[in-house]
Amino acid sequence: MKKIAVAGTGYVGLVTGVALSDIGHEVTCIDIDEAKVKRMQAGESPIYEPGLDELMTKNIEAGRLHFTTNHREGFANKDAAYIAVGTPEKEDGTADLRFIEAVAKDIAQNLTGDITVVTKSTVPVGTNDYINETIQENLAGNHNIEVVSNPEFLREGSAVFDAFNGDRIVIGADSEKAASLIEEINKPFGIAIYKTDIRSAEMIKYASNAFLATKISFINEISNLCDRLGANVEDVAIGMGMDGRIGAQFLKAGIGYGGSCFPKDTSALVKIAETAGMEFELIQSVMNVNKKQQLLLVEKAKEVLGNLNGKKIALLGLAFKPNTDDMRESPAIAISGSLLAEGAEVVAYDPIATPNAKFFMPGGVEYVNSAEEAINGADTAFIVTDWEEFKNLELSVFAEKLQEPVVFDGRNCYDLKQVKDANIDYYSIGRPAVTREEAKELSKTN
Ligand code: UGA
Repeated sequence: MKKIAVAGTGYVGLVTGVALSDIGHEVTCIDIDEAKVKRMQAGESPIYEPGLDELMTKNIEAGRLHFTTNHREGFANKDAAYIAVGTPEKEDGTADLRFIEAVAKDIAQNLTGDITVVTKSTVPVGTNDYINETIQENLAGNHNIEVVSNPEFLREGSAVFDAFNGDRIVIGADSEKAASLIEEINKPFGIAIYKTDIRSAEMIKYASNAFLATKISFINEISNLCDRLGANVEDVAIGMGMDGRIGAQFLKAGIGYGGSCFPKDTSALVKIAETAGMEFELIQSVMNVNKKQQLLLVEKAKEVLGNLNGKKIALLGLAFKPNTDDMRESPAIAISGSLLAEGAEVVAYDPIATPNAKFFMPGGVEYVNSAEEAINGADTAFIVTDWEEFKNLELSVFAEKLQEPVVFDGRNCYDLKQVKDANIDYYSIGRPAVTREEAKELSKTN
């Protein structure tokens, strides 16, 4: 059992802290927000993450998981201090390291003995060296400090599952002693550990996210070509993914990636390359493709319906992906902005993201409490997030409640065969359109 401090209780910090306590360590999570700390002390997670509340309660009750706003108490007598604060994107696309710097100073001023500092936050290559320097410069007392890069690969919405079932744990350290300590801490997870130097570990994180974003933009471009040529992108993705060298995951075409990671990390990587004197053309294109893809449904709707001025559009789903209430960089934001600019009315519904959405979405969007309420009386419906709730909708609801039964599905939620019997016009991503006209013709010939 090791004594661990975790600074920052966002997705990464909180899940890391809770998971480390669950494998037996004594963990203290530190946050500056008093109200948030009170909620967490009561076993309530401030973020929506399946399974997290239960795990928090279990480990608080076992006496292994603590929350505090007191930095002295938080960093004193610890074997390791994890940095898990945000690195948001600055206006110029670079990562904002303000919070990292503040924590580094905090650790330096509050530790009471030797400590290994573990960076979980996604930070540009070279930042761990900077963290080390910042701590050394602000150190109160004569302590030995080691800094380790230990990037996080968990996904929102399945973060708890990922923490216990990840593909690898990367440990970047310049000393064997520090690497061994973090290896020992992580051993009970039973996940493969890969040890490397600090800069390579920092790069592994950016390269992994940028590669996954590349897969998504690639399949989205293929889907747009499938649209033009009458192929089906889902079959194409399956056929490609069966090649072990390609892999089946992250080949789901849609309306682009969003969230707090891919958009931020791709633009940071372009900036990192720029600073290193290199133009990272591929990732720049991945970003451009994604921007265009987010507005694909609007383009399709204009093509099919003509002018959208005065049309009422039901937006099903607001979160950037299902099982999260996170709205950061969600395609829903760009889509609503564009629809409102076209003079359309937007009626939106999301199973859980609506309270958050109100801060992110443009003004003028109406929010309702069910999918059916959004669809009822609207001219057309856009499916933006692939929530199970939408996948399980009776398709007859579209035919019955829409003024004109035309559906634009940005996440390919329905089987084309199922749609053919639904008496709707259905436009999805990279798959042939299904229209009532065509279904009628087909039934005549059958
Ligand atoms: C992503 C990575 O998957 C994690 O490994 C990483 O740790 C995390 O970023 C991070 O850096 O913190 P996350 O942003 O939670 O995780 O979400 P993903 O499940 O990766 O999805 C990202 C976006 O890509 C979503 O908008 C999703 O709809 C989209 N996506 C994903 C597709 O359009 N197609 C796919 O095949 C997969």
